[in-house]
Amino acid sequence: MITIQEKPSLARRTTLGIGGTALAEVQVTDALDCFALDSIVKKIGGTPFILGAGSNILADDGELPFVLIHPNIRTEPIISYEVEGKALVTVGAGFPLQKLLYFCAENGLSGLEGLVGIPGNVGGAVAMNAGSYGVETCAQLHSIVLYHPEHGIWQVDAAAIQYGYRYFCPCENLKNYMVLQATFALTQKESNGIKKSMSLNFLKKKSTQPVAARSAGCVFKNPLGESAGRLLDAAGLKGKQMCGMAFSSVHANFLVNEGGGSAQAAFALIDCAREAVLQQFGIQLEMEVRVISWQSR
Ligand code: EPU
Repeated sequence: MITIQEKPSLARRTTLGIGGTALAEVQVTDALDCFALDSIVKKIGGTPFILGAGSNILADDGELPFVLIHPNIRTEPIISYEVEGKALVTVGAGFPLQKLLYFCAENGLSGLEGLVGIPGNVGGAVAMNAGSYGVETCAQLHSIVLYHPEHGIWQVDAAAIQYGYRYFCPCENLKNYMVLQATFALTQKESNGIKKSMSLNFLKKKSTQPVAARSAGCVFKNPLGESAGRLLDAAGLKGKQMCGMAFSSVHANFLVNEGGGSAQAAFALIDCAREAVLQQFGIQLEMEVRVISWQSR
């Protein structure tokens, strides 16, 4: 099913809870709906932006010239067959990542435990190569199914996917593709052991990150061999507030909306942090969150 909503609020579609409105949001719940997307987007006339659960997004204030495309394909995970001693789990891109982790734990399938506590959907975790505690989403893939306006729908095997630290490239020089489905190759292990490892990881996360705050996770990438959080902390940014936004007092690399925050305040804090880290350590911090803005940020 395809649904179109005019002037969707980005504040309501992102975990950070800030941002203005887009031109429209087009939601698809089935892979075959994608074939109608191109003409719908052209008719509306804005720049397409693929938006999953909005948990790694910083959206600008005001009226933004984008058409949000929301792949809400929530197909439940299915364990298919074993390949080279691994079990394959196929799931829709719009399925919540944490629900997938609990499904895997219940079924004694190991590989994704480190991703516990990461919000968002499976598609977003793949497209960002989300990672924590030594686990990278893309390293566990067997294959994915993609949609692209010019290429249609096709499957890409894991071996053809290039990925790295918060980097995912399923096909060279291809933009505006959309992940529709992912198949993970997981190892069969005892369910209780997987659950234990997940709860240990979650406890660690809870004690070092503001898991309940309105944030988009880490705002900057870690520079090679360094932690952006440590640098920001050392530069005095931890807990720094500005008009409802702040660098968390739990972990300095989390930009949080404490209530009534805006993108203007977020970008002002980001600029201030970049400047401080550059001055003090000579390191240029790069954004980890994806920015939706009408100007280049
Ligand atoms: N640190 C500080 N002050 C802070 C925060 C951290 O001194 O305010 C120090 C810590 O004490 C530690 C070091 O910096 O010695 C590293 O901190 P942490 O273990 O919290 O890891 P991180 O490098 O800050 C990365 C990922 C997280 C991921 C964790 C756990 C990035 C940008 N961050 O954080 O991912 O959850 O490791 O694996 O890669 C995200 O991608 O959004 C994210 C939160």
